[in-house]
Amino acid sequence: MAPPRVTKKSISPVVICLLADRPEVIPIIASWIYDEWSFLYAGKTRQYVENFLHERLHKKQLPITFVAFQSGEPVGTVSLKEFDIETRTDLTPWVTSLYVVKSLRGKGIGSRLMEAAEEKAGKLGIKKLFLFTADPDLAARFYRKLGWKTKEKTIYNSYKIIIMEKRLAGTRQYRHIPVR
Ligand SMILES: CC(C)(COP(=O)(O)OP(=O)(O)OC[C@H]1O[C@@H](n2cnc3c(N)ncnc32)[C@H](O)[C@@H]1OP(=O)(O)O)[C@@H](O)C(=O)NCCC(=O)NCCS
Repeated sequence: MAPPRVTKKSISPVVICLLADRPEVIPIIASWIYDEWSFLYAGKTRQYVENFLHERLHKKQLPITFVAFQSGEPVGTVSLKEFDIETRTDLTPWVTSLYVVKSLRGKGIGSRLMEAAEEKAGKLGIKKLFLFTADPDLAARFYRKLGWKTKEKTIYNSYKIIIMEKRLAGTRQYRHIPVR
């Protein structure tokens, strides 16, 4: 018998929620962040990350965390927060902690999360967002495609980083990126 055809309909949709509406997934999100950016949390525990996620349980003010769900399971996250780099408090606010589970990368979930964060920022009246990355490929291929521009290259915690910025053009620009 021929294998069932994978059609668009048979792929479960990705739904973006606010962590404020699903706080029970905080331990999972904390594990992702703690493991992915362990170099930033040297000497700190996973509980430290859980604690700051509890501070991001907002809906209409920063900091806000978004979670992507597929078939009821969390599959990715991103946050909006006022400050991200202690040395650059002149820039605000920031997109931070973007993460998609390894097995589901390359399907558009990261782009959808970015879109959700930018759309919310636009609704909150934010005109410009910042982010930083230490990965020049990510900056050139992923963020650039989403309309982000390099603001400057600098050193942070002895890492070479790229600070990027995006001017938001209101909420009309969003066409909802399809998940592949
Ligand atoms: C970065 C990340 C969130 C992207 O999520 P994703 O769901 O795979 O993203 P998308 O499927 O929307 O990717 C869109 C495009 O970006 C590209 N891309 C994704 N990650 C990339 C990387 N690390 N380097 C270069 N290009 C990348 C994809 O190839 C894709 O390009 P295509 O549409 O031409 O095929 C994911 O790879 C991740 O969680 N990485 C680990 C954490 C991380 O680095 N976060 C960012 C911190 S600044």
